[in-house]
Amino acid sequence: MKQQNILITAGDGIGPEVMGEVKKIIFFLNAEGMTNITTTERLIGGASYDAHGVPVTDETIEIARKSDCVLLGAVGGTKWDGVDYNLRPEAGLLKIRKDLELFANLRPAIVFDALIDASTLKPEIVKGLDILIVRELTGGVYFGEPRGIFNLPNGERQGVNTQVYTTSEIHRVGRVAFELARKRQGRVTSCEKANVMESGKLWREEMTKLHEEYKDVQLSHMYADNCAMQLLKNPRQFDVIVTDNLFGDILSDEASMLTGSLGMLPSASLGARDENGHQNALYEPVHGSAPDIAGQGKANPMAAILSFAMALRFSLDHGTIADHIEASARAVLNNGIRTGDIMAAGCKQVSTTEMGDALINEMKTRLKKAA
Ligand code: IPM
Ligand code: MG
Repeated sequence: MKQQNILITAGDGIGPEVMGEVKKIIFFLNAEGMTNITTTERLIGGASYDAHGVPVTDETIEIARKSDCVLLGAVGGTKWDGVDYNLRPEAGLLKIRKDLELFANLRPAIVFDALIDASTLKPEIVKGLDILIVRELTGGVYFGEPRGIFNLPNGERQGVNTQVYTTSEIHRVGRVAFELARKRQGRVTSCEKANVMESGKLWREEMTKLHEEYKDVQLSHMYADNCAMQLLKNPRQFDVIVTDNLFGDILSDEASMLTGSLGMLPSASLGARDENGHQNALYEPVHGSAPDIAGQGKANPMAAILSFAMALRFSLDHGTIADHIEASARAVLNNGIRTGDIMAAGCKQVSTTEMGDALINEMKTRLKKAA
């Protein structure tokens, strides 16, 4: 079997704990002869800042570029609140996204049947919910120039960020959305603020043009504020939502909470495929570093594990193993095994490592049955 190389950047807070469970699964899959994965580990975020003075080193970026994919834990924590903007843990994440040109961020919001009561919304509103947010990740107001805090002649200070999008930036992320919709329910909702922003007007016009190539997919446009409202009112109207970097940041947090289980949600950030078939890719849980519970064995490793499943599917050509992990995750939940964040009456509360073990046991049982 061809060797595949993964860079693991566990990061801060609960990052190392949840990645510990992912490493156990990689070890298990390798031992079973199902994969041939070699891992390299590097620091990122605050951990990298403490060790190297920067939230991500150039060496780490180079390894990331050469790897089949990167698995990231989480970055950030109050410890680094006082650190300069461009050296903060978050800056490391933004740099790796930008340097690897990971322009398409896939954030699924799925309601697991076993966890339906974890949502703050009524079960009948969220039952079976399966939305995919495709967030543009390397452009827009996060990276636009000019930016900065400027001193004005009148003594005032002025904070400036710039929202910029070009046609090619809109088209490449739009394509990802249309192509993924083809494998789902075939519907794309494109969100912007074309009513007040020129960048939004361009976004809407370019998405409409691009749609000519994807006539089999249904495209609708929605103002981002309306989308925020519709997500709460009737979330199942959505299949794929495609939107810019900032709106995507906000709408994906909102969508994740519809599921009530942030600890379960994976994400993928993908670049373009080059002529040799290589595609830069980074997989990370949607949740953050949760410094308040770090080091206590309380974190839910499922989001990190399901992110690894996405890596198996999108980067490592192991879709069947991905299916196997996802089915096992559902089974573990159906068996009432829960970490604290998704605990419910009548269930058994387990630690981070116990959750990882339960998943591996379930995978073993299923493999035996299949053999
Ligand atoms: C996210 C986060 C990041 C973002 C931060 C940590 C820089 O909120 O991935 O959604 O704003 O993109
Ligand atoms: Mg966010």
